[in-house]
Parts: sequence; structure tokens; C-alpha cells
Amino acid sequence: MAEHDVIDLLMAQHGQIRDLFDEVEKAPPDKVDGAFARLTRMLSVHETAEEEIVHPYARRKLDNGQGVVGDRLREENHAKRLLLDLDRNGVDHPRFWERLAELRTVVTMHARGEERYEFARLRACTSAAERRAMAAAVRAAETLAPVRPHPGTESAVKNVLLGTPMAVMDRAREVIRKALGKR
Ligand SMILES: [Fe+2]
Ligand SMILES: [Fe+2]
Repeated sequence: MAEHDVIDLLMAQHGQIRDLFDEVEKAPPDKVDGAFARLTRMLSVHETAEEEIVHPYARRKLDNGQGVVGDRLREENHAKRLLLDLDRNGVDHPRFWERLAELRTVVTMHARGEERYEFARLRACTSAAERRAMAAAVRAAETLAPVRPHPGTESAVKNVLLGTPMAVMDRAREVIRKALGKR
């Protein structure tokens, strides 16, 4: 991914998240777990990047930033609860597909809310240099969420290297703060 503007980059990730939902839904039974692990990593990294980088900025810069970001954070927390629940119960749970569909709806509405009420206005009130600096921090975290499968390493990546969504979010937060020069 070569986007140098944080808004373009986050919108491209929205597209990747949509594609990863498609991949889980279309996967043959033995590939559902791996596809869901990739979706989980991408969502964990993407939402953490927004929470650490663009939401704080939007809160300060936009008119009614507090309200706009508050609504987005509520949506993100809802999505995060559903994701953690799905991850804990695993892909063989009898209600996995029903809950995945619910997660997809919540995530899609959330992305639409960000693009419509936050990103468009943020683009108008930031400089290209600011958006480039924010993009660099998002890209640093993006390396934690490979979009393409690595044959044979799926379960190792899921269980050993990164672990639970909470561990991925913690690791992403560390990487982002370092990239932003906060630590
Ligand atoms: Fe978000
Ligand atoms: Fe987003």
C-alpha cells in the first residue's frame, strides 16, 4: 500500500476490510479460521490506528469534534465487543455466522460514518504534510496485519506471534506511539 495521505490510506483499509469479510464468507470450511484471523488482525490494527492517530486530531480540529469523535468511538467499541466475542468463541461456534454478519453491519456503518462525518472534514482542515506524517504512523502499524495469507503459517501467526485481538491492539498502539515519537 503506497498511500501517503492518511485519509486515502484509511479509506483503502476500509476496502480491504470489506474484502476480508468477503473472504471469510466465501472460504471453504478448512480456510475459515485463517481468513477470520486475517480479518481480526486488520480490524484490530485499523481501529487502533484511528483511535491513536486520527480521532484525537479530529477531536481537536473539527467543529463539534468532541461529538463527531464520541459517536465514532461508541461504534468502534460496539464493533470491538463483537470481535472479541467472535474470537473467543471461535469459528465453530453455532452462532458464528450470525454474529459475523452482525459485526459486518456494525463495521460497515461505522466506516461510512467516519468517511462522511469525520474524514471529509478532516481533509479540509489539515495540511498535506500533517496527513503524510499521520499516514507514516498508520503504515508502521499496518505491517502487523498482512492481508495475504502465508501458506502454512496461519495458525502460528495467530497463536504465537500476535495472539488475541487485545494483544494485537496493544502491539499496534506501541508501534504507532513510537512512530509518532511519543515514546
Ligand atoms: Fe474506526
Ligand atoms: Fe475506519
